[in-house]
Amino acid sequence: MKKKSFFIALVCALVFAAGICRAFSAAAAVVGDVDGDGSVSAADARLVLRASVGLENANPLTMDADADGNVSAADARLVLRFAVGLEPVLPVTDGEPQGESGVLVVYFSRTGHTRPLAGYAAEALQADIYEIQAKIPYTDEDIRYYTDCRADREQNDPAARPEIAGPLPDLSGYDTVLLGYPIWHGQAPKIIYTFLESFDLAGKTLVPFCTSASSPLGSSALNLHPLAPAAVWKEGKRFAIGTARDEMEQWLTEIGLKHTEQKEENALQITVNGTALNVAWEDNAAVSALKTLAANGPVTVQTAAYGGFEQVGPLGTSLPRSDVSVTTAPGDIVLYAGNQIVLFYGSNTWSYTRLGKIQGLDQAALSALLGGSAATVTFFCEN
Ligand SMILES: Cc1cc2nc3c(=O)[nH]c(=O)nc-3n(C[C@H](O)[C@H](O)[C@H](O)COP(=O)(O)O)c2cc1C
Repeated sequence: MKKKSFFIALVCALVFAAGICRAFSAAAAVVGDVDGDGSVSAADARLVLRASVGLENANPLTMDADADGNVSAADARLVLRFAVGLEPVLPVTDGEPQGESGVLVVYFSRTGHTRPLAGYAAEALQADIYEIQAKIPYTDEDIRYYTDCRADREQNDPAARPEIAGPLPDLSGYDTVLLGYPIWHGQAPKIIYTFLESFDLAGKTLVPFCTSASSPLGSSALNLHPLAPAAVWKEGKRFAIGTARDEMEQWLTEIGLKHTEQKEENALQITVNGTALNVAWEDNAAVSALKTLAANGPVTVQTAAYGGFEQVGPLGTSLPRSDVSVTTAPGDIVLYAGNQIVLFYGSNTWSYTRLGKIQGLDQAALSALLGGSAATVTFFCEN
């Protein structure tokens, strides 16, 4: 315990000493951006550390910086290292792709307009994401275009190849790279050229997209082809600044990267502390009644930890009961006493009505999600 307190004190001291906050790469549910403010900072590292010792609710989606299924002090350290620029990308893995799609979203964004689009794409495709950052960062002066600024000069210089900061990603596990950039004088910034020339991209599918004030994609994508001549280049797209998530998703569907999910109509959905869960629901009267409730608007249940194995809280109304004696397993969602929602990260034997089972999260991830002192559980039902 003393060791833990010392470590917390140490990280807090680093937090204040560092005082540095680095703009982050993607939009919602991004590893490292624990407080969801759009950046990864020392404050996020502190939250991860607090979660690792049970002082905050652990959210593996944003806190599991080493992607090992646990929220631990090691994750806090990685988030802090990322916040101060010592790690180029989160999660830090052993090089194995984490996304499920074989797609890596790579982007460069100096003023932050391309970044959210890259985030939308990564989320829609469940893809990994890598932000290209310049070894010598572009200052505001450097990008004041038409002033013979650094960016003007680089764009005019066919040989310019600005260096990239930090290690490059290992592309071996990806078959498709989505490449996002801002238009600089009608073209991709030269750091994109640096990126493409750093790899043998033979056989990879490359999909460019850009943001600009007004210019179209123009020749910017075509002029990248010679840098990866053996890649399969898909036609790219230009997005206006501030483009909504839907438009990115629609494009990804049009080009065949995103497959429209056949969402079951009236599917009951659940989030815990804002994290959407995949649940296999029971086919019973209690779940039907819960769906009907949620169809009228989100139903929120504030739960509290109980017994070291569950989160339990009042629904505020009763559902039809079909109680039987059940020995629950991690991931089970049940109804207790007709009006209490219980989510298990451990096990208990009692008389419950089964509601469903959380899919795809192991015990460690469930403990991280549900093991805090309280949680906010919300049921939705989209019509
Ligand atoms: C050096 C420089 C040159 C630019 N040239 C163009 C241009 O030719 N056409 C255009 O529409 N916008 C141009 N812009 C605006 C950017 O393309 C636009 O703001 C973009 O969305 C920035 O993306 P980012 O915030 O991800 O860096 C230029 C911006 C800079 C900094």
